[in-house]
Amino acid sequence: MHLNGPPSQAIRARRSVRNYSPEAIPPDLLRQLNEACADTTRSPFGETASFQIIEKPFKRGEPVKLGNYGLQRNPRYFFVGSITRSPTALMGYGYLLEHLVLRATELGLGTCWMGYFNPEFFPEVTGDGLTPAIAIVGKMEKPRIGEKIMRSAIKADKRKDRSTFFFDGDFDRPLSRSDAGEYENPLEMLRLGPSSGNTQCWRIVRGHGNVFHFHMRIVKKKYHAAGMHHVDIGIAMAHFELAAREASLDGEWRVEDPRLALPDVTEYRVSWFPV
Ligand SMILES: Cc1cc2nc3c(=O)[nH]c(=O)nc-3n(C[C@H](O)[C@H](O)[C@H](O)COP(=O)(O)O)c2cc1C
Repeated sequence: MHLNGPPSQAIRARRSVRNYSPEAIPPDLLRQLNEACADTTRSPFGETASFQIIEKPFKRGEPVKLGNYGLQRNPRYFFVGSITRSPTALMGYGYLLEHLVLRATELGLGTCWMGYFNPEFFPEVTGDGLTPAIAIVGKMEKPRIGEKIMRSAIKADKRKDRSTFFFDGDFDRPLSRSDAGEYENPLEMLRLGPSSGNTQCWRIVRGHGNVFHFHMRIVKKKYHAAGMHHVDIGIAMAHFELAAREASLDGEWRVEDPRLALPDVTEYRVSWFPV
């Protein structure tokens, strides 16, 4: 699936929206979202996936609930997908669904990832694939006060300093902006990505020849247990790759552990190899 505009623009514009208009998404936009879903079928790891938009306006007193409705106002449309099971499926799912989130963003719609949702709310999803998370999509309204308080509590507008995330050669040496060179923007776009509870579990080490080794720090056991940190890494892959390709930096993803000395609770996941 391709974005129409520059990915960096959509990445900078995106933020989680929790207050939606109850209005319908205009048919032309809905058609474009459905086309994007139809085009989002294969992860870089080779898993196959299918995504759809499910319309389910919120009704008070429904017997089957979506999840933490308290935070979400007037959710009506949902990106819901299913991916074939494999050791990398959660990352593959994060990668693919983030492409759809960014497509919706460039169409001027609001989105919010939801890791905590009730699968019974979506009986439309059948088969034995995985649905680790969903995303709300819709016309946005201005944030309410409760949402502002919640965003400030989880520091949603903040990202840790780049020295927390990016390293050169090994985990002892931070990667400076100037040393990152043409990969500085892809790394910055990764840093702006959404993550479960804003935990920002990405830890990236650049190796020889601009190979980037993506590691995952288990920042919160609760999110890790639900598979959310793996999804977060997939989202980071999407941002990094989209911004790299925007700068005509081509590459491919391979799981080839460089076996670096690792800090506590940090695991290798995947690497970007320039081609
Ligand atoms: C995998 C994943 C799961 C998430 N689950 C939820 C959720 O269940 N409820 C919610 O309100 N926000 C959820 N979020 C949104 C994050 O809280 C949000 O991305 C983070 O605070 C950063 O804020 P931003 O997206 O506005 O940049 C989730 C995000 C990700 C990536």
